[in-house]
Amino acid sequence: MTRVLSGIQPTGEIHLGNYLGALRQWTVDQHEHDSFYCAVDLHAVTVPQAPEELRSKTLETMATLVAVGLDPEICTLFVQSHVPFHTELSWLLECTVSFGELRRMTQFKDKSTKQGDAGQEQVSAGLFTYPALMAADILIYDADRVPVGDDQRQHLELTRDIAERFNSRYGETLIIPSAAIPKVAARVMDLQEPKNKMSKSSESANGTIGIFEDPTSIAKKFKRAVTDSSNDVSFDFETKPGVSNLLSILGAATNSEPDKLADKYTQYGPLKADAADAVIEVLTPVQQRRSELLADPAELDRIIARGAEKASEVAAVTVERAKTAMGFLPLK
Ligand code: TYM
Repeated sequence: MTRVLSGIQPTGEIHLGNYLGALRQWTVDQHEHDSFYCAVDLHAVTVPQAPEELRSKTLETMATLVAVGLDPEICTLFVQSHVPFHTELSWLLECTVSFGELRRMTQFKDKSTKQGDAGQEQVSAGLFTYPALMAADILIYDADRVPVGDDQRQHLELTRDIAERFNSRYGETLIIPSAAIPKVAARVMDLQEPKNKMSKSSESANGTIGIFEDPTSIAKKFKRAVTDSSNDVSFDFETKPGVSNLLSILGAATNSEPDKLADKYTQYGPLKADAADAVIEVLTPVQQRRSELLADPAELDRIIARGAEKASEVAAVTVERAKTAMGFLPLK
């Protein structure tokens, strides 16, 4: 059976981009593949986090994963730091990836530039080596398929390169994974700045839809969404980014094709209203389920403990295999 692995950072508010680009695919994949999903808290600390907030966000993220429809009886749901083998494999992969490869990662360039005047000299070494840890997350489960949004494409390509290099140096040890990027809504854009992707760290609060936002606020944000100067509705991200983003969101939320949806509209108002309604309809049950889960922390603790156990069983075997291939002396 094919293996699937994916992760999400437990920082900020999980937004519509995370949901349509990644989480929704995960819920489908769990029924078709042996699936592992985690809250990647070790990735979160590549930039400073307040300890109390990291703890509560990690718990909330796990509640969210269950609320979106991931069933802990079917897939393995866990917190990355509960499976220390990830950091062990990460070191082996840091010694496989090159400085030049890490330096070329656009997410590193973007995030390190955002740290302001202090510039790249001040960013953590962890932010730089982040892709090796991400490769470890994937390769440690022998994952064949990694459902992610389009922004993770480059990290996935690097993961493949790292695995191929490891195998050619030490013999066939690691499975080469493929990215599974959705056809629609692989890059949900900011509603106010449709040339930028919707992101947790976005400066325009009106451009991002949190998946736990109340319906009135969601409707208001869609109403105010930036569209384009000419009035016709067509699907073309180059010339009409705002309208195309709305069509993609509506398409993803209703399982329809954005270019076909475009033919149904002659004005922006009804498109915005329909996109808002469709998103509210998809998110309402998720919101209800998360409140129930957070009200029962003991159940969530059980899910998390069971996930750590299941994930560790698989991860331990792969790390041993990689260490043996590299020539580490086995403990007898
Ligand atoms: P993160 O936490 O930034 O995002 C989680 C998932 O959401 C997707 N995503 C989007 N999809 C569509 N439109 C958007 N605007 C949008 N914003 C985010 C991301 O592509 C991702 O799939 N490095 C990863 C976490 C990670 C990981 C892994 C993922 C760590 N280890 C191993 C897969 C496999 C990240 O920061 O995702």
